[in-house]
Amino acid sequence: MVKICCIGAGYVGGPTMAVIALKCPSIIVTVVDISLPRITAWNSDHLPIYEPGLDEVVKQCRGNNLFFSTDVEKHVSEADIVFVSVNTPTKTQGLGAGKAADLTYWESAARMIADVSKSDKIVVEKSTVPVKTAEAIEKILTHNSKGINFQILSNPEFLAEGTAIVDLFNPDRVLIGGRETPEGDKAIKALKDVYAHWVPEERIICTNLWSAELSKLAANAFLAQRISSVNAMSALCEATGADVAQVSHAVGKDTRIGPKFLNASVGFGGSCFQKDILNLVYICQCNGLPEVAHYWKQVIKINDYQKSRFVNRVVSSMFNTVSGKKIAILGFAFKKDTGDTRETPAIDVCKGLLGDKALISIYDPQVSEDQIQKDLSMKKFDWDHPTHLQPMSPTSIKSLSVVWDAYEATKDAHAICILTEWDEFKSLDYQRIYNNMQKPAFVFDGRNAVDVEKLRSIGFIVYSIGKPLDQWLKDMPAVA
Ligand code: NAD
Ligand code: UGA
Repeated sequence: MVKICCIGAGYVGGPTMAVIALKCPSIIVTVVDISLPRITAWNSDHLPIYEPGLDEVVKQCRGNNLFFSTDVEKHVSEADIVFVSVNTPTKTQGLGAGKAADLTYWESAARMIADVSKSDKIVVEKSTVPVKTAEAIEKILTHNSKGINFQILSNPEFLAEGTAIVDLFNPDRVLIGGRETPEGDKAIKALKDVYAHWVPEERIICTNLWSAELSKLAANAFLAQRISSVNAMSALCEATGADVAQVSHAVGKDTRIGPKFLNASVGFGGSCFQKDILNLVYICQCNGLPEVAHYWKQVIKINDYQKSRFVNRVVSSMFNTVSGKKIAILGFAFKKDTGDTRETPAIDVCKGLLGDKALISIYDPQVSEDQIQKDLSMKKFDWDHPTHLQPMSPTSIKSLSVVWDAYEATKDAHAICILTEWDEFKSLDYQRIYNNMQKPAFVFDGRNAVDVEKLRSIGFIVYSIGKPLDQWLKDMPAVA
């Protein structure tokens, strides 16, 4: 019986392995992690991450052929295939700080694999890593191998949070990169056989190692670039009276462009787009390609511009000051259907408003107060380290409250900022909300989630990204 062990029980390791276990009843899958609270949660009724459909998958296999454990060394030593799905954050110190990927966790996992292995293994890069990481890992493993044969494969993950289970059940493609040698081919085939339990063969792409590693960074860069492109257009729409939704629709009808991923927003967030582009930029610089590095850096610059443009709109619309004014924040997660707040644009928006002395009241159906306090007080990039290594959150921010209801958040508020497109925000009783707010009452919709005309007819002054501006906003000084 094939045994799989996955190091790292996070957003990728947990769901990916649960789906492999479900689709391959003949394979024993164990997910291991150094974090005891995470593993305890995976073994409980309250899984450590919120992901639609995940509970059902885990319930069906846990205890049969799916296990979660902190006994990392035992399960790695017994496995035939070891997936590594640990954090690969942006470096915060030293060479390449703020750009390069920090491979500390990857390297320590590789050294541990070499230490505890007693039989040949296929080691699979599941984490997103810089191109050529496989070579470094290969060196660590072979120099410490004691005669054991390790084959390294790159098998990057393309799932998106909020739709992880659907994406894993029905992936656009599975990518497997390996060495172009007979042993490499054999390892590729072994991993292909796992996915072939449910993924049609034509969707399993096999390449060399470097193409697989680079394709992951490229895919995220292309996706993020689409969002920055439409967000750049949104600024021009506001200046000209065009409507970004209409422009996206018209542009996306071209089959060469396609309609997906063209929603203007307050900016993209999530644990990977920024990190992976910074990493790509660094790799370009290291390879003597400053123009290419500069090109991709612009995707992040536009994203930062979009977030600060939003904050400027809020402040300038409200007579150039939000000091002492209550602002309701609806949604803190980086997108709907997840409780994940890593690099959420809400962090920068809230910090911007707090910097202007606003009193903010936040409601998100999936994010806890503790998480929000941590996010708003943590330094850039610190969030992407294993939880037990993150700095403790300092004293809580006083001008911030977190409530469990949109009506409570908006009561007596001067303005509402919608920062996550949760479905429930579309069907709120906005008349009731309006009645309980200070006047003039503002809505700043960072996700184009609400019906602008309906809200205007209630009496709100509405700003919606990339939409024709309210007369009120036209009369205010332009935002940079
Ligand atoms: P995560 O922080 O949710 O999970 C990583 C886990 O690895 C943590 O639980 C941590 O405790 C554990 N870990 C770290 N070092 C370890 C070690 N030496 N031994 C055992 N456990 C260890 O991260 P994630 O979101 O699952 O991302 C993991 C990787 O996958 C990253 O490289 C990321 O870029 C990539 N990725 C993420 C997504 C996503 O949607 N989140 C999608 C595709 C790819
Ligand atoms: C993204 C990719 O979509 C996955 O393929 C990839 O595996 C993953 O990154 C990763 O490597 O971590 P994810 O970040 O989970 O997935 O979510 P997305 O749906 O891509 O959304 C990212 C951000 O872009 C969110 O803040 C979202 O609100 C924003 N977005 C997305 C827009 O602003 N407009 C859009 O049209 C689409």
